Amino acid sequence: MKTIGFIGAGHIGSQLARLAVSRGYNVVISNSRGPDTLSSLVAELGPNARAATSAEAAKAGDIVVVSIPLKNYRGVPVAPLTGKIVIDTENYYSQRDGHIPELDSEATTTSELLQAHLPTSRVVKAFNHITAQELTRDGQPSGSKNRRAVVIAGDDPAAKGAVSRLIDEFGYDTVDAGPLKEGWRIQRDTPGYGARHTAEQLRDDLAKAKRYKDQAAAHAAR
Ligand SMILES: NC(=O)c1ccc[n+]([C@@H]2O[C@H](COP(=O)([O-])OP(=O)(O)OC[C@H]3O[C@@H](n4cnc5c(N)ncnc54)[C@H](OP(=O)(O)O)[C@@H]3O)[C@@H](O)[C@H]2O)c1
Repeated sequence: MKTIGFIGAGHIGSQLARLAVSRGYNVVISNSRGPDTLSSLVAELGPNARAATSAEAAKAGDIVVVSIPLKNYRGVPVAPLTGKIVIDTENYYSQRDGHIPELDSEATTTSELLQAHLPTSRVVKAFNHITAQELTRDGQPSGSKNRRAVVIAGDDPAAKGAVSRLIDEFGYDTVDAGPLKEGWRIQRDTPGYGARHTAEQLRDDLAKAKRYKDQAAAHAAR
């Protein structure tokens, strides 16, 4: 695995690209406005980085990170991601993304939506609950005391294994929440979302997580 493609080069995409080049990966980054608008980020990332269109970044990546506002997920190219591991950092904020009925009703989860859009890819949810600037700040070598952890979810065990190894290289332990449908346990307003927690603490957070409707019911009962 040598090249990581990025669809989205904003707060999270650019930070993950910084981690990737610092660990020896080639990166191909893209955004919605076109490669010309990424020249300063490419210059900062150095000779192992280049900018491209989203389709080119998808084609070039051995693993591809999707880090865009959720409302635009249908714009992620499908064919060039066939067979690939796709890391999904997206979260749902209706103020930004507009209302998505199947998320409002909790009939599905954000990463299941992306997986449905990319039926031939292997989507792994990761890096959705850590603030962008912390990504390059909080990483520590494997075995460090109180090492911060990142939750993953996914339906393909081999893909989750590959993403766990990448997360370890980036400086974090991994906690597996299970299949994509369990990804709600680390969505906004759950205990682990945004917290600087170890693997043990995050496992506890996942177990304690409540659905939005149950949070609302508990709030109303107070
Ligand atoms: N910020 C955080 O700390 C944080 C933490 C965890 C997870 N997240 C989640 O990760 C996702 C990205 O967040 P962010 O803060 O990095 O957003 P951001 O700073 O607004 O960056 C979004 C990036 O996506 C690009 N983009 C938008 N639509 C696209 C499309 N159709 N094709 C290709 N690129 C597209 C944008 O390109 P242009 O600029 O050219 O439009 C921009 O590079 C969101 O779902 C967010 O909820 C964010």
